[in-house]
Amino acid sequence: MRQAGRYLPEYRAIRGRTKSFLELCLNPKLAAEVTLQPVRRFGFDAAILFSDILIVPHGLGRRVSFENGDGPQLDALNEPQAIRLLPREIDQAVLTPVYETIGRVRQELPPAVALLGFCGAPWTVATYMIVGGGAADQLPAREFAYRHPEVFKELIDVLTAVSADYLIRQLEAGADAVQIFDTWAGVLPPDEFRKWCIEPCARMVALVRHKRAEAKIIGFPRGAGTKLTQYVAAVPVDAIGLDWMIEPRFARERIQKQRPVQGNLDPLVLLAGGAALDRAIDAVMEAFAGGPFIFNLGHGVLPATPLAHVERLIARVRGVAPRG
Ligand code: CP3
Repeated sequence: MRQAGRYLPEYRAIRGRTKSFLELCLNPKLAAEVTLQPVRRFGFDAAILFSDILIVPHGLGRRVSFENGDGPQLDALNEPQAIRLLPREIDQAVLTPVYETIGRVRQELPPAVALLGFCGAPWTVATYMIVGGGAADQLPAREFAYRHPEVFKELIDVLTAVSADYLIRQLEAGADAVQIFDTWAGVLPPDEFRKWCIEPCARMVALVRHKRAEAKIIGFPRGAGTKLTQYVAAVPVDAIGLDWMIEPRFARERIQKQRPVQGNLDPLVLLAGGAALDRAIDAVMEAFAGGPFIFNLGHGVLPATPLAHVERLIARVRGVAPRG
């Protein structure tokens, strides 16, 4: 999950040195620095590449911007004809800085600390491209998929191919594992979930493994709920990221028995802190620590999260008495 960002003063300092968020993502020296910051401060066991899932639409020539915390803005791609005209490949010159960032980070990280690369899943990236940003449950994207299923599938197919290629190149640049973020998987009803989440993600994994059989891949279909069993059955990822909404017994019995899991503390309880945080950490440990498990949040760290709460979390998970 996102572990860099505005809750870190050292991130805000570096972010203040670049004009735009995208410029920071595409500056290897600064992006590497921001990737390493949470690991240096907290001693995490893994770093996640500092970038964004919307680098892919940017690489496809779409306008992408992030204006002061309002979320991403893109030129909406809501005309079938515009999708037909979309390039079928990413201009690799755009992505070269990302691979350079990975190389730099891998060199600086201790060997025992893993580096995760990532991309957005085709469905989630398609929603941002069609809507032109974030909307309630990405409704306009679902409507578009119902109205224009064939051209929507064209978009999904382009994203599947370019994202698989992007992950392969991240692995070649030095990422130890890659994660596929399907942040908006949870808004899809079952048939659409199969068509737009499971099927493209399964194809992506096959494409990556075709080039790199040993690739370690984590899937995160956020909000999938009980449909996670179908995802696990059809998408051969090595591990599953659990969101904070999943029923723990279901996840332990039906998911963790199939695949290692990571997650799933509610980012909001980390922000809130106090006794609620301690209880929530213990509940996650009790649910999953008996099997193959990576402790993590169920989604990214929220910008208003106090640093002391993160420190408390780490101490509790590692079984060390918390400071103060
Ligand atoms: O810790 C890290 O270095 C992780 C880097 C990372 C970012 N985005 C940086 C970022 C990762 C893994 C992402 C993935 C991403 N981006 C997803 C999938 C995972 C998820 O969180 O659901 C999605 C949906 C996006 C698209 C996106 N980027 C949104 C909706 C927003 C706005 C929300 C917000 O918090 O402002 C972003 C901006 C963004 N991407 C920020 C960061 C650190 C915040 C901007 C800033 O702090 O300057």
